[in-house]
Amino acid sequence: MTQAVRFLLGDQPIELHDVDPTQTVLQWLRNDAGRRGSKEGCAEGDCGACTVVLGRVDDNDRMVYRAVNACILFMPTLDGCQLLTVEHLKTADGRLHPAQQAMVDCHGSQCGFCTPGFVMSLFALYLSEDRPSRQRINDVLAGNLCRCTGYHPIVNAASLMYDYDWQDPTLAKASETVACLVSMRRSDTLALTHGARRYFAPVDIAGLATAMADYPEATLLAGGTDVGLWVTKRHMTLDTVIYVGDVAELHGIKETDGAIEIGAAVTHSDAIGVLARHFPDFGELLRRFASTLIRNSSTVGGNIANGSPIGDSMPVLIALGARLTLRGPDGAREMPIEDYYIDYGKQDRRPGEFVERIRVPVLATDEHFRCYKISKRFDQDISAVCAAFKIRVEDGRVAAIRTGFGGVAATPKRAVSTEAALQGQPWNEATATAAEAVLAKEFSPLTDMRASEQYRRLVTSRLLRKFYIETTQPEARTRVLEDETEA
Ligand SMILES: Cc1cc2nc3c(=O)[nH]c(=O)nc-3n(C[C@H](O)[C@H](O)[C@H](O)COP(=O)(O)OP(=O)(O)OC[C@H]3O[C@@H](n4cnc5c(N)ncnc54)[C@H](O)[C@@H]3O)c2cc1C
Ligand code: FES
Ligand code: FES
Repeated sequence: MTQAVRFLLGDQPIELHDVDPTQTVLQWLRNDAGRRGSKEGCAEGDCGACTVVLGRVDDNDRMVYRAVNACILFMPTLDGCQLLTVEHLKTADGRLHPAQQAMVDCHGSQCGFCTPGFVMSLFALYLSEDRPSRQRINDVLAGNLCRCTGYHPIVNAASLMYDYDWQDPTLAKASETVACLVSMRRSDTLALTHGARRYFAPVDIAGLATAMADYPEATLLAGGTDVGLWVTKRHMTLDTVIYVGDVAELHGIKETDGAIEIGAAVTHSDAIGVLARHFPDFGELLRRFASTLIRNSSTVGGNIANGSPIGDSMPVLIALGARLTLRGPDGAREMPIEDYYIDYGKQDRRPGEFVERIRVPVLATDEHFRCYKISKRFDQDISAVCAAFKIRVEDGRVAAIRTGFGGVAATPKRAVSTEAALQGQPWNEATATAAEAVLAKEFSPLTDMRASEQYRRLVTSRLLRKFYIETTQPEARTRVLEDETEA
């Protein structure tokens, strides 16, 4: 077993022994590495002041650069990556990177606290995309908050940075970086101890099964966008952590015989393309799932396994009829995703089991699908209510209907009474009205800081009405896309 964390800090190889498994990358940068450019604003993935860029080698042996929140990223997960911080951007002869120069030229900074984070999000964009649209820039910057400058100059900087004459040193060295990271690749489990605490990062399912058999009480860690906050906000001590992000079989997206199969450790950023292509509404919802920074870390399996009643992907996957594969000591078992959620915080996961993958059937040509996220803010907000509907209408009647809801019960749920009220009925105004009345009574939602019980009941039934209108009157404009609102 490998017993040291190895990564590149810029192009400098780093090897760390005796790493605290839940020390964050931000803590290490500021306290141990003397790099204080990355700031701590919230320590919960919300503000982007801590943004750093991670470089990884993809399946085609090319570098992929992603901006992430260092404040909730645990140090050992850097193993095999390149870490780039704001200190790497200025050249040795003092030239600012275009992401920095454009911020200066557009007056994109005042107090400067948020600026390194914005610059790193812009830097990742510069490395990965050429002259993105204004909407894309807004999406990429949605996880970086600024309390004083205002966003207009910063968004202008994002466009201007492509106009400078610049040969990017990071891109110029990319093939050297690939070679270096490939030479660091492990074929065995990374096993760390720190006092009485342990961290394991297996590279395959066999290694994962062994670690889980040895430590059945261990905390599974994927992107850490939930688990990270248990440490930084709830100050929990995690005795044993098993990281699933390096397990090869949990990666990969396959499109086969009418379904899409997504490995549990695939990030939302990697899944969004294929899901948006098959289900444009799901793509739109994922665009509003947290922020680009979070989606670059958060995984499909982590969202499903966490089982939050206000998580975004589950209602959608339930309505789509997705099936979940769990793997454990007795092999693999499959279930409709809704059966996984037993009660608040309680899922049908047996000791030693983990979520392996999700299988999502694609839509038949005569099926219609819509999903809706209702939250107080457009970007970077948790849903008050999430609703999804899939329908097949034959000869004017509802031949098949599936629904999925979040934010209305202790778990993500189907509205089975409403589905029964719709099944076999003519898909018309009277049926929609009758089903709305059933739906308004089907759940007993809570009142909390996101919405009142009455609001949740009302909006849930109104979303069914919206779905009815959108499937029967395609000319009815019930939604305005973001890019249509741009000046
Ligand atoms: C700022 C911010 C905004 C957010 N916004 C949203 C939002 O808009 N919508 C939303 O739904 N969520 C949101 N979240 C929550 C979070 O990002 C998601 O739940 C995310 O999908 C979790 O995935 P992860 O890979 O980070 O999981 P982790 O944090 O690593 O793990 C989450 C849970 O799943 C378990 N787990 C992970 N992988 C597996 C596996 N393969 N098998 C079994 N168990 C496993 C872990 O043990 C843990 O219990 C937000 C979080 C933050 C910090
Ligand atoms: S410090 Fe706010 S997102 Fe990391
Ligand atoms: S410049 Fe002050 S927070 Fe952005």
